[in-house]
Amino acid sequence: MRSIYLLSFFFLPLLVFSQEFEPNYDEAEVPEYHLPDPLIFDNGQAINTAEDWERRRLEIHDIFEREVYGKSPHWDGESRAEVISSTDNAVGGMAIRKEVKLSLIRQGKQVDIYLLMYLPKSNLRSPVFLGLNFYGNHTLSEDQAIRVTDAWIRNNETYGSSENRASEKGRGLRRDNWGVEEAINRGYGIATLYYGELDPDFDDGFDNGVHALYQEERDENSWGAVAAWAWGLSRVMDYLETLEEVDATKVAVLGHSRLGKAALWAGASDSRFAMVISNNSGCGGAALSRRRYGETVGRINRAFPHWFAKRFSHYSENEDELPIDQHQLIALLAPRPVYIASGEEDRWADPRGEFLSGLHANPVYQLLGKTGMPVNEQPAVDQPIMGDIGYHVRSGGHGMLPYDMHQYFNFADKHWKSK
Ligand code: GCU
Repeated sequence: MRSIYLLSFFFLPLLVFSQEFEPNYDEAEVPEYHLPDPLIFDNGQAINTAEDWERRRLEIHDIFEREVYGKSPHWDGESRAEVISSTDNAVGGMAIRKEVKLSLIRQGKQVDIYLLMYLPKSNLRSPVFLGLNFYGNHTLSEDQAIRVTDAWIRNNETYGSSENRASEKGRGLRRDNWGVEEAINRGYGIATLYYGELDPDFDDGFDNGVHALYQEERDENSWGAVAAWAWGLSRVMDYLETLEEVDATKVAVLGHSRLGKAALWAGASDSRFAMVISNNSGCGGAALSRRRYGETVGRINRAFPHWFAKRFSHYSENEDELPIDQHQLIALLAPRPVYIASGEEDRWADPRGEFLSGLHANPVYQLLGKTGMPVNEQPAVDQPIMGDIGYHVRSGGHGMLPYDMHQYFNFADKHWKSK
């Protein structure tokens, strides 16, 4: 008996780990769950006023830091900016393009990140869409002046990266995904950088990227990669605030997939982001963890052990114990406009769970005098809805497509141009 007990003690975790993960894609199999109420303090007291919410907001943010993304450090280093290339003849002469090297320096260590910006030629300060990219700045344009990143990159034949290095082969291949031309035509700037320059996306023991700027003792609540990417977006925001061409009161932070998780966490942690856009961010992003539909907390922690705080793995196959769920991440963005987008076939990211997160953030938006998500039912495919919370489920699968960008520009028009 005892030996069976011992055997199962040692081998059960191995078994769970090595078994093929079978995602649930059957709505009928979604377990019953109870979502934590964003409008009740941990001590059980109800939240009735905007002032109460401010305190509850901090409480919820602390929980996400501790239990999910890990605590990011306060930035007390030195930042330097150097324009490494620029032209005022981009996008058919309509835009200025610049690439800027931003150096983050602290305790004798330095991390360089490269920000690519397209800004409309205009006498006015332009609102900007800021997001991390997956394959390097050079994938946004054929222009040879744009640098090919020398940071570690995932291998991808289509985008020309092999042996963890980017190459010329990827140049211009992601141009349409970013909607640069449409942005410029509509008066918006685009700012982007390669996410691996902030933190290379592999399980490296946190000794490179921006983690290396802090020689800290790590514990189970220390920041993971998603938090590092989000933190980097705030460092870019520091820089955008210094630019005369940019309206820093209108910066939308956006991201796709793992970078959508980072965009949401950036928006939740830094209220300077006036608008937040989650494109197919899924588990650990906009999707409710308790639904266990598609990717689950356990699966994400095992496949990407470096993304979150170590503590998050406590909730693997244990979602009901989470003191928060992802609707509260959306609530942290209130009253700011937030857009959540799903892909119909991107079941791994749980489109319905992403919609429900928005819907269940409504009580907080409403407490703050807003509407939040303007519908109660998930809209039909390709039928965007745009309240304070916007949502669409696009036909097709996982990706950030011109269709998605088009909706985000419409959403920004609605919130920023009608006033
Ligand atoms: C994987 C991962 C997702 C993530 C996605 C991406 O599919 O499981 O959580 O969003 O990669 O970043 O493309």
